[in-house]
Amino acid sequence: MTAPLTILGLESSCDDTAAAVVRGRKILSSIVLGQDALHRAYGGVVPEIAARAHAEKLDICVAQALADAGLPLSGMDAIAVTAGPGLIGGVLSGVMMAKGLSVGSGLALIGVNHLAGHALTPRLTDDLPYPYLMLLVSGGHCQFLIVRGPQDFSRIGGTIDDAPGEAFDKTARLLGLPQPGGPSVEHAAVAGDPARFAFPRPLMDRPGCDMSFSGLKTALLRQRDTLIAAQGGLFETDVADLCAGFQAAVRDVLIGKTRRAIALYLKEQPPVPGFAVAGGVAANRAICAGLETLCADADLRFVAPPLALCTDNAAMIAYAGGELFAQGVRHDMTLSARPRWPLDRSAVPMLGSGKKGAKA
Ligand code: KG4
Ligand code: ZN
Repeated sequence: MTAPLTILGLESSCDDTAAAVVRGRKILSSIVLGQDALHRAYGGVVPEIAARAHAEKLDICVAQALADAGLPLSGMDAIAVTAGPGLIGGVLSGVMMAKGLSVGSGLALIGVNHLAGHALTPRLTDDLPYPYLMLLVSGGHCQFLIVRGPQDFSRIGGTIDDAPGEAFDKTARLLGLPQPGGPSVEHAAVAGDPARFAFPRPLMDRPGCDMSFSGLKTALLRQRDTLIAAQGGLFETDVADLCAGFQAAVRDVLIGKTRRAIALYLKEQPPVPGFAVAGGVAANRAICAGLETLCADADLRFVAPPLALCTDNAAMIAYAGGELFAQGVRHDMTLSARPRWPLDRSAVPMLGSGKKGAKA
């Protein structure tokens, strides 16, 4: 039996500077240094500020991850780094750091797709066998993937506009609730009546697994403005009912489209059918419970990794790097940082990909 690989992972594609040491499926250390305080005043992540903060913190983060793991750099088998997709300045900071460490130590360098890190997390946490169906649902992503291997993904659908987390965040902003919007909207929805306001279930009348969430936000804006025009403001019950109606619509779309994705996936006759959900929106109890019930009905194993591993972290990058290393993947000093890097290169770009290109 070969010893499990020990991999140092680096992640800096958005607003979390992270480093971790993973041995096989064991997380020896995982450090995540958030940047919330730096961006708060601007209402969103400022790429230049993020890149500078990554550059300043990456070495501290790596030193801490190695110290927590109780291992020197020479105790690693390889260095894995997020090489995209993401904010280019941050990805560059991580790739440059990893290259420096690789040259200095002679360790192998492995560039990892950030989305592959998320998509392989159910293997890190639960050893979920290939092929499994995955729903990545966060503030920036929303897609169904059939995961067949660390480099073999089929995207069978996704959002054509906003990601659900983004829609939750915008909803919170429109209703004066704190950010991040998901938890605030979920909390307010508990006391609300989901049936008081009519929200659409976008694209449910069309075949396939693509989704759309931007219309929900517009519907909410219209309902809110009608209330304000009629009564001069919003009562607490209005906010609760709007949140409940919005959340129920997002849940119904995600559940309805997941039902279709499961049917497509099962056509492949996977030997051990499994479904995993990841991303910040998976923290939503109504959505997660709906997905779990759906899987139970279809006889699919259901995996929802712990939230700390669903949100951005470097343990998932180290783990994915380990699977790639085992497949013989090695990169050299030509490894480049990629702002866009779709997991499924054969899938057509999403509709509405717009000015910023395809929503990977
Ligand atoms: O995966 P994640 O931490 O980050 C990225 O998207 O990169 O996801 C964050 C998103 C935010 O939009 C947040 O509002 C949403 O996940 N979220 C939730 C909940 N908790 C976090 N959405 C709905 N319900 C929740 N309980
Ligand atoms: Zn992410």
